[in-house]
Formats: sequence, C-alpha cells, structure tokens
Amino acid sequence: MGKQVEVLPDKAGVLARGLELVMAKIASSVEESGRCTIALAGGSTPKNLYEAIAAQSLPWDKIHVFWGDERYVGPKHPDSNQGMARQAWLDRVPIPEANIHPMPTGSGEPAVDAQTHELELKQFFGVADGEVPAFDIILLGMGDDGHTASLFPHTAALSVSDRLITVGSKDNQPRLTFTVPLINRAKCVIFLVTGAGKRPALTQVFAPDGDPQTYPSRLIQPIGELWWLLDQEANPV
Ligand code: 6PG
Repeated sequence: MGKQVEVLPDKAGVLARGLELVMAKIASSVEESGRCTIALAGGSTPKNLYEAIAAQSLPWDKIHVFWGDERYVGPKHPDSNQGMARQAWLDRVPIPEANIHPMPTGSGEPAVDAQTHELELKQFFGVADGEVPAFDIILLGMGDDGHTASLFPHTAALSVSDRLITVGSKDNQPRLTFTVPLINRAKCVIFLVTGAGKRPALTQVFAPDGDPQTYPSRLIQPIGELWWLLDQEANPV
C-alpha cells in the first residue's frame, strides 16, 4: 500500500484522525478474525489518544493490548509506558486483565525479560521459531533524533533480525523494544508525530536516501499499511 502521509492542522487533529484510524482497524480486525491485537507507543504524544479510545464503546474482550517498547522500570514508575497507558485508558475500561500483555521489566536482566516476552508473543500468536507474528495495529511515535519504539540511532537493536523482542539503549539506559522485523510484519503501522522539534529528523526520514542507522524510523517499511499522521509543525514540506 505504501506510505500514507496525512498532515493535520494541529496535535488535536492528529489525535482525532488517529482515533478514527484505530477505531476502523479495530472494527475490521474483529470482523475478520474475532480479535484485534494492538501494540502501543510510549512517550507523551499518544496519551490523549489513549484517553479518547477509553471513551469509546468497544468489544473490550476482543482487544489485546501490547507495547512496542518499554523503559526498564516498573509499571508504577512515572517513566513507564505501561503505567501511562493504564492510567490514560486501560484502567478506565472493562478490558480483561488477561488481554493486557505488558513487557516484563522485573527480573533485573533486560535480556532475560526480552526473551520472556518473546516467548509470550510466540505462544499468544502460535508462531514457531523463525516465524514473525503480524500485529493488527502498531502505534509508533518518533523522537527528535528519528528513533522509533526503542530503536535508537547507531545501536545494536537496529540490526537484530532473528528476534521479535530485543534490548534497546538510550543514554546507556536499557529498554525493551519490538525489533524491526516484528514491526515490519504488521498489518497496519500508524506513526503519530507532532511538533516543530520533529521536523528536522522527519525531513531525513522522508528523504529519498539517507542513513537508517542515523534515522531509524527509515527502517519501518511494513508489509501492511503505513500511516504517518503529522501536524503542520512537524510536516517537513
Ligand atoms: C518511548 C517511545 C518513543 C516515543 C518517541 C516520541 O518509549 O519513549 O516509545 O519511541 O514514541 O520518543 O515520544 P513523544 O511522543 O513523547 O515525542
């Protein structure tokens, strides 16, 4: 399908369009397969989107929530992506706890927790070793440096191709992250990018050629749909 870029007037417009897309994809996924698997972005941009999703009437028992990356902290820590999504959305709706699949961060060994979560994904999706499951929806943000999930510039995580989950690193702080192959297997990837701070990196990400090691969001080329929802400030053109 190729990249679909939509420029909205402001952040509120990006989130409203994001809600429309997510609602449509949830409906079509449940219609087609009886469930929807969605992986959430962390950071600050999507918080209001999660609050808006919480206000919708949805078949919560058919929706399974994952995270595309996680800081290596507990769910109560202010930096926790899991904690943010629970507070903004999941604690406000009757979704079964069994449908919430956070990345584990409690063993003290990020690589061990990454492997644990990888096994959980394989069991949930029923895939064999070497197979890559296809999420219905993966939401992503992009940092001012062009990273996405916890795939940071010039880190080893960018090159991991034989795993679903790996350990990312930001300023020597470990994070758990989906790998590029897992993200690129998705049926629908939606980037939500707002603010002037993102424009320089986005210019490089959208450029005809450029270094994906420096701008890792260039690596996201899913087999399914790829949506970039931008506000005017972030728009490179
Ligand atoms: C995280 C995210 C990360 C985020 C970008 C954009 O754990 O921080 O997954 O990839 O999406 O850094 O963050 P903002 O939305 O806060 O700009």
